Amino acid sequence: MRTITIPKGAKLIKSGSFGSYYKISNKKGIKVIWRSSYSLVRKEANYLNVAAKAKLAPRCHEIVKVKDENDVHYGLIVDHVEGRASSWGGKVMEPLKRQLIKSLKEIGIKNQDLYGDNVRKTKKGYMVVDFTPSQCSFIK
Ligand SMILES: Nc1ncnc2c1ncn2[C@@H]1O[C@H](COP(=O)(O)OP(=O)(O)O)[C@@H](O)[C@H]1O
Ligand SMILES: [Mg+2]
Repeated sequence: MRTITIPKGAKLIKSGSFGSYYKISNKKGIKVIWRSSYSLVRKEANYLNVAAKAKLAPRCHEIVKVKDENDVHYGLIVDHVEGRASSWGGKVMEPLKRQLIKSLKEIGIKNQDLYGDNVRKTKKGYMVVDFTPSQCSFIK
């Protein structure tokens, strides 16, 4: 597995309590996941790639180790999804969200974290960027 540092010029898009996401080129981004395990990041990469086949998620190209000053964390190099956060809030169930849930179900994935910034609206439709394993399962 490669060990990398966040490239200079990467743009920090979001930093939260579980990690951070940087856009590292026109097409790619890196999701750095703090204090995770290899088995969990592999699961997340797998969900992404299963959903990516159905064009419902960005592809994960590589799992890397990301070094900062003090620590090493796992990172997922993914296709960067242009677009904006969906405006889905907590209990709002619009038809498009139902459609997305159905499409995910067809490929055997249940994701209980489909809201706001985890779902992005793109020119080609909705894409789910977050498959945190604790929120997801395979259903067939
Ligand atoms: N592939 C991606 N393309 C564009 N933005 C992304 C992508 N992955 C993550 N992001 C952005 O980074 C944020 C955090 O990533 P996310 O996977 O939701 O992490 P967390 O598990 O910390 O919620 C997302 O809500 C989204 O704004
Ligand atoms: Mg998220």
